Amino acid sequence: MEIIIQPTPEAATRLAARMIAGLLQRKPNAVLGLVTGSTPIPLYRELSEMRFDWRQVTTFNLDEYLGLPPDHEKSFHYYMRENLFKHVNIPPANRHIPDGLAADVPSHCADYEERIRKAGGIDLQLLSIGLDGHIGFNEPTSSLASRTRIKTIAPQTRKDNARFFGSEERVPRHCITMGIGTILEARQCLLLAFGTAKARIIAETVEGPLAANNPASALQMHANAIFCLDEKAAQLLKRAVYYRWVYDNKPAWQRH
Ligand code: F6R
Repeated sequence: MEIIIQPTPEAATRLAARMIAGLLQRKPNAVLGLVTGSTPIPLYRELSEMRFDWRQVTTFNLDEYLGLPPDHEKSFHYYMRENLFKHVNIPPANRHIPDGLAADVPSHCADYEERIRKAGGIDLQLLSIGLDGHIGFNEPTSSLASRTRIKTIAPQTRKDNARFFGSEERVPRHCITMGIGTILEARQCLLLAFGTAKARIIAETVEGPLAANNPASALQMHANAIFCLDEKAAQLLKRAVYYRWVYDNKPAWQRH
């Protein structure tokens, strides 16, 4: 794992944008795994302003609420349209988000996995982390080998997401999410976490035991996982001095 600690969320976001820009320059037909939530909004803004030609890019979102149509303003379809897709020229056929209205959920999930496979796999999976360690909607005790499937959203996550819906009661109970096994197959994972509230779970994820009880800890098994943090999210890391030293001493060819 590579742990990068930046002074502010803005600096960490700029660094993440540079990494994605570098990937798109090297590989204009890259396959990106996308995430929603509050953390990546400034990153999508930054990327939108970079004026890339995104015509060959393919995207796969991690998750979607079950029961929400794509035009529902709390759906992840809507979020992606507002925060990224309407600003960049990714062809609609290349954008993939689980269908919240899928009639046959298991076969839709199997098809989603197949689409990722046919696209050649995900080059870079963007991630953020929930306070209980969820990535995508893989809640604690999710199988670390899980694939795209229906999940019941944990009460804590429904509480955390009530801010988007106005009340907890309006937050859907189910979702479709890529599994931990699906995420681990991405060639690179880039997790962003900012703010004091994320400090405890970041410390457990990076320096705690690998356990289904903290699904994000599965990233310890990934050969190319980068955590891009601000000072506040990094404040409980015991080896922070070492992470900074590693970053400051990277050979020029390895710099982001
Ligand atoms: C959303 C997703 C979730 C969020 C997580 C953190 O697509 O996959 O795992 O990344 O709930 O959300 P924020 O960024 O709002 O703290």
